[in-house]
Amino acid sequence: MSAQASHQPSRIDRFFAGPGSRCDQWRDLVELAEAWCRDAGKRASVDAALADLMATEPFHAYPGHRLITALQDHIASDDPRATAALARRIARALLTRSFRQSAGDWEADEDNPAISAEALPPINGRDETHRPYFEILVVTGAPPARWPALAAEWRRLRRPLDAFVYEPVLVGSFEDAFCATMLNTDLAAVVIHEGFAFRSRQDAPVLRSLTAELDQYTDTQESALALARVIKRLRPELDLYLLSNGNVENIAGSPHSEALRRVFYAVEELLELHLAIIEGVEDRYDTPFFDNLKKYAQRPIGTFHALPIARGKSIFKSDWIRDMGEFYGPTLFLAESSATTGGLDSLLEPTGNIKRAQEKAARAFGADHVFFVTNGTSTSNKMAIQALLSPGDIAIVDRNCHKSHHYGMVLAGAHPLYVEAFPMTEYSMYGAVPLRTIKKALLDLKADGRLDRAKMIDLTNCTFDGHIYNTRRVMEQCLAIKPDLIFLWDEAWFGFARFSPFLRPRTAMGAAAEIESWMKDPRAIDQYEKQKAELGATPSDETLLETHLVPDPRKIQLRVYQTNSTHKSMSALRQGSMLFVKDVLFHTVEAQFREAVFTHASTSPNQQLIASLDVARRQMELEGYGLVHNAIEIAFRIRQAVAEHPLISKYFHILGADKMVPADYRESGFSDYLDPGIDWVKTRRSILEDEFCLDPTRMTLVCGTAGFDGTQFKGLLANKYNIQVNKTSRNSVLLQSNINNTRSDVAHLIRVLVEISAEIDDRIVAGSVNVRNTFVDSVKRLMTDVPNLPNFSHFHETFRRGAGRRTNEGDIRSGFYTAYNPEGCEYIRLFDPEIDRRLKAGPELVSASFVIPYPPGFPIMVPGQVITPETIEFMRKLDVKEIHGYNAAEGLKLVRSEALSTTSVAPKQAA
Ligand SMILES: Cc1ncc(COP(=O)(O)O)c(C=O)c1O
Repeated sequence: MSAQASHQPSRIDRFFAGPGSRCDQWRDLVELAEAWCRDAGKRASVDAALADLMATEPFHAYPGHRLITALQDHIASDDPRATAALARRIARALLTRSFRQSAGDWEADEDNPAISAEALPPINGRDETHRPYFEILVVTGAPPARWPALAAEWRRLRRPLDAFVYEPVLVGSFEDAFCATMLNTDLAAVVIHEGFAFRSRQDAPVLRSLTAELDQYTDTQESALALARVIKRLRPELDLYLLSNGNVENIAGSPHSEALRRVFYAVEELLELHLAIIEGVEDRYDTPFFDNLKKYAQRPIGTFHALPIARGKSIFKSDWIRDMGEFYGPTLFLAESSATTGGLDSLLEPTGNIKRAQEKAARAFGADHVFFVTNGTSTSNKMAIQALLSPGDIAIVDRNCHKSHHYGMVLAGAHPLYVEAFPMTEYSMYGAVPLRTIKKALLDLKADGRLDRAKMIDLTNCTFDGHIYNTRRVMEQCLAIKPDLIFLWDEAWFGFARFSPFLRPRTAMGAAAEIESWMKDPRAIDQYEKQKAELGATPSDETLLETHLVPDPRKIQLRVYQTNSTHKSMSALRQGSMLFVKDVLFHTVEAQFREAVFTHASTSPNQQLIASLDVARRQMELEGYGLVHNAIEIAFRIRQAVAEHPLISKYFHILGADKMVPADYRESGFSDYLDPGIDWVKTRRSILEDEFCLDPTRMTLVCGTAGFDGTQFKGLLANKYNIQVNKTSRNSVLLQSNINNTRSDVAHLIRVLVEISAEIDDRIVAGSVNVRNTFVDSVKRLMTDVPNLPNFSHFHETFRRGAGRRTNEGDIRSGFYTAYNPEGCEYIRLFDPEIDRRLKAGPELVSASFVIPYPPGFPIMVPGQVITPETIEFMRKLDVKEIHGYNAAEGLKLVRSEALSTTSVAPKQAA
């Protein structure tokens, strides 16, 4: 799915070609028009390029009917100069987005502005302050010849009092509405009139296969509601309005109309509709906490309270620290406060604007409740674990998850049953945990008669390296084994995914919504009963592992939690995190959550962090779709540039889905986003069917083939080229595109990779045989002499009291506290032969602490774990400097065998 689509004929359903590709197409048109200025024979290519653009331009308000007609007129009258001049103005306005504010950009003739109603630019051209701009999609059954007049009618509704300015985009069919919703990133609302056609007049094979199942809607009202439902699924943040000439009371009362914000009786209410549209956007724009903080900062408040930094007087009056004030500006200090009253609110017990801000975040992210957290997802995870698990509860946990989960288990006294992700030994990293492994853990617990103690499945989605779970399938199948399991999905990196229709179904909240609507479908019970009959009364574990299990919709208690580091993928300040709740039994744990907030939240949470969470939500609801689209498009451009550049691709490559996800977990046969023949339909199938897929914005750039280890290469990029990358592995670095990236960033990265590749090339070509051999040796060392990744072994018997025969969970908390007794611990240096002797002859080596090397960042030892030869081999081969919990000079911290036999372990509590 090439992002660079300009050389192919355009189709309306190229959903991955984002805003950047559109600008490229306009730039190509400008270049062709300029070539036509120089050579009269080149007109045909201008005609063709404009025709190409016209496949999708009608889905955008700018440049719009008038400017396009003017452009076509210039071409028809054989005027290359006027064509080039107008195309250039349009291309520039699109690139700089100036059309959103500048009235002149909407004029066909800059020197002679038109004055007709239709020519009215988005801002009335007077000395107004900046008003945010958006577009509305109007789906209409009116003939296209009437559209300009209809658009003019919409524009006449504008009032100087309106907080925002919008332009209408008209389409006449279901398919065009679908495409416009996907392609127009400026949309904020959709108005659906009844009576539109189904098919587009354009060719759209990809779209047709997506909408094939919807073709059945023929009745006008049904099509309008069906379209509303489809659009809501694609972009839940949009406000939808229906205009009907029929029985609006019945439509409004129908359960099928829940996607609609309001229903209007068609002919009478245009001004009301306009006001509703503005109000709907206002509701998303409103940031209760941030707005209040701004007001608070303007008030002349005297403080007889803590936080002398508030109001900034001690800073700006100081000779010694005034530079801090100048650096941050006075507003920061005016907005600093330790108050929770006087217009502010308390994060620990929110009742006012923080509560409202959280409610809006819940709406935006599809949750029932949201907690704002100001100490990162490290804290969100610990809060969720503390609130949901009691001592002795079993949680099935990805051993490779972030350390906050492991520490959370220690705090809660829960017993982690570690499950292993599939290894990617070649790149010294882990993938994600196969569903079969998770089901097996549940079935083993069941066989041991302890399934009742299994409370939670705790997984990371997506993983650091971009593996995305089939969240719906994992939850469905686990619920088929135990219908009240709680799911904690750590989506620290994946919060943005809510705003991509392509990634949303794979988020925790997206999948929970799908399961919830499946549970309401009467066919769900039939599906369950049918499978139950097929499986018979006593299916073997193997059969259950092999079968795509259907849960009993009558028994499910859907309990889904998701944490996300808003600061990692959205516009929140560092440490801004959110904890989402979609739990039918939340009322039973609400008090526990309050305790968890009291335990973990600072009593002095930072106001700016809370405000930034509020604002990040606003941004995502109003422009998140376009920003995420852009981040994905940027990732495709980087992937493509690295793959196609002859010099870069000699030494570096980015791992595609086929390399990151073993074929067994790509049941749809999907290979990679950029592969020939991969389109949206195949991508969608992969998202629905495959066990794991790859987040395209997380790019593993292999640098071992260029002779660099990950840490070295990360340092080189940062120190010499001012490029910061994400994590590293032995032979790779992780690049991440996000909503902040621009194509200039891509250009810089590619230039740097070319420069580094050229240096290697010169060194090897000009160097001696020894230089070449040294290079080959270092590539071999990094790419093939890689250590095996050790699996979690098991907890020592002392910490397994009460555990079953088949599973490996343990009392990590008791293991952790043995280290508090210095006499009970010993240190042995890693390369001491004593280690090898003990591994062979015993007594067993038992870790007294977490040992977490960075990279890869997962604990290779947890407290109470028995250390195996594989773990020691891995530690000895590790060439990273940062290993948390391990001091090379002292050695491994172990629990003395005498202490093990006497360690007092709290008796297991029955669930
Ligand atoms: C999967 C995962 N979860 C949680 C965290 C912790 O998030 P935060 O940095 O917001 O505390 C991280 C941090 O890298 C992470 O990778």
